[in-house]
Amino acid sequence: MDAVQDIKGRLDIVDVVSEYIPLKPGGSGAFKANCPFHQEKSPSFYVSRPRQSWHCFGCDQGGDSISFVMRMEGMEFREALELLAQKAGVILPKFDGEKATQRKRLQEVNEIAMKFFRASFQNLPTAEHARTYFTKRGVDDLTADLFQIGYAPESWDALTVALQSKGVTESELLLAGLVGKRENGSGVYDRFRNRLMFPIADVHGNIVGFTGRILTDSKEEAKYVNTPETSLYRKSAVLYGLDKAKGEIRRQDLAVIVEGNMDVVGSHQFGMTQVVASSGTALTTEQLALLKRFTSNLSIAFDQDNAGNAATIRGLDLARAQDFNIKVITLPPEAGKDPDDAVRKNPELWKQAIKDAVGIMEWIYRDAFRKAEGDERKQAGEAENKKHIAHDVLVEIRRIADPVERDHWIKKLAKDLDVSDQALRDSMVRIPAVHTPKIPIIKAVPQGLVHQRIDNSLEYERRMLAMGLYRPELWKEVATVEKIGPEEFEDPQLSTLYETLIKAYDPDVSVQTDLAAANQTIRPPATLTPDEVKTFNALAFLGEREYQGQSLEELKRELKTAAGTLRLHRKKRERLQLEHEMREAERLGDQSRILDLLKRFSALN
Ligand code: UTP
Ligand code: MN
Repeated sequence: MDAVQDIKGRLDIVDVVSEYIPLKPGGSGAFKANCPFHQEKSPSFYVSRPRQSWHCFGCDQGGDSISFVMRMEGMEFREALELLAQKAGVILPKFDGEKATQRKRLQEVNEIAMKFFRASFQNLPTAEHARTYFTKRGVDDLTADLFQIGYAPESWDALTVALQSKGVTESELLLAGLVGKRENGSGVYDRFRNRLMFPIADVHGNIVGFTGRILTDSKEEAKYVNTPETSLYRKSAVLYGLDKAKGEIRRQDLAVIVEGNMDVVGSHQFGMTQVVASSGTALTTEQLALLKRFTSNLSIAFDQDNAGNAATIRGLDLARAQDFNIKVITLPPEAGKDPDDAVRKNPELWKQAIKDAVGIMEWIYRDAFRKAEGDERKQAGEAENKKHIAHDVLVEIRRIADPVERDHWIKKLAKDLDVSDQALRDSMVRIPAVHTPKIPIIKAVPQGLVHQRIDNSLEYERRMLAMGLYRPELWKEVATVEKIGPEEFEDPQLSTLYETLIKAYDPDVSVQTDLAAANQTIRPPATLTPDEVKTFNALAFLGEREYQGQSLEELKRELKTAAGTLRLHRKKRERLQLEHEMREAERLGDQSRILDLLKRFSALN
């Protein structure tokens, strides 16, 4: 690409680097600095003007100005090139002209809206309660300014009127999600009214959407209103605060993940600037791919009321499958319900909790014992309680690959429960293997490319299980005739459930249950977790509702269709993944990888 040479020719790497870090003369015409990519006390990062390159002897990394910007900003090649092109005054040939222009414009619209909300917050007499509210929550002006906190006036058209006077059209407002269409008649209305506004930025700091919090504790309205999914904003693809946290995340080689916006604001105010929020949901593949640009170490804090539920654990599974080292942060009871509460009580509480993060195994272990302290569980009796704890912990121990580590945990558990090792080992083999989702390790992925959930695939997975629960004879059909394995399921929980049920119905396999019991009333196998039992029951109901009155032959036909669809979806997922890897390999010019991928590709079809 000519443009690349052109851009490099016009920019001096010394200027580019010194925009980010202070450079000192380092002898023989070179410059040096403390490396921005790892922590160090004396400089081993060198920049050479004659060679227009950089190298760090500490972390053994190096490259040109483009790779420097890529690493520094967590950008893709193309993005870094664009940034440098702007500095160099070079116009890059557009590869995605119209769409890119529209994105830019919508970002601009969001930016104008942010300024409007911000000015309203600072100046409107009718925003007094918002200012008071925010001050009461302990946020200082500097932090409010950093996060560009605003206020949406209590009005159906204040934003619309203000933005239209600045040349923003109604359709642009709609596309940006800032307004909704009136149901009757024409025109639009402001989506955010009388709310505290948090702009949501992408990793580069462009505003892509907003989340607005109510200013009371009213339970009548939604606490937070978010920008709906737009071409710019997809909830699953952003992490709140990442644009501000990325530098510190890279320096510390650690990202701290919290649930709420206020948790991020509070953390940053008190100097914990490696904190980002997943905004109340389990981490998605796209969010993980973003984080991977900066670190492979995650410490995750769950709100007190949320700790240990299935969704949080599943969120961790996804991250584990992508090679993150994960720790879990637990707030001490006196710290309140979330990191924001903790920081307001005493920033040290939160700081210390981050330091005290423990590995997943350790956390699950403690959590299993902690849960046993619940009132209901206490009533269940000692033996029953031990069984539950053992189950919760053994599920996790079973996943440990290293035999020594496994043994360590089994012995510890045996001691703490006062039962024999052997009893635990016996019950562990009866626990079905848990599937971690089989998603290849992903590095820096362009947003939105990988693992798009294929429409309705979940629906087919559920139907397939529901059918088997309604007519257990069908399990044989599924497994041996249609040859559906657990790996065909996209949903990890359904996949595990399927595996258990197949085994439970197969008389040749050692795990025997009462699945095929008389009258075909199917009861959940004893090895299921409470969450799985819940799903089991829901599916059994679904089966009864959907398939009542259908003959076995009809069901078999339907089963065949569902099996085909499942397989199709699995292939589609793999193909998307391969396509993505292919682009990456092409970008890197990795010939042998390209060949390998091509082979895998043709094997797919
Ligand atoms: P929380 O309910 O824990 O709120 O939701 P919070 O962050 O602690 O807020 P405060 O302290 O009461 O002000 C956690 C996150 O989930 C998202 C928001 O991003 C919120 O910060 N959320 C929550 C929504 O998007 N919609 C909701 O209705 C609730
Ligand atoms: Mn909170």
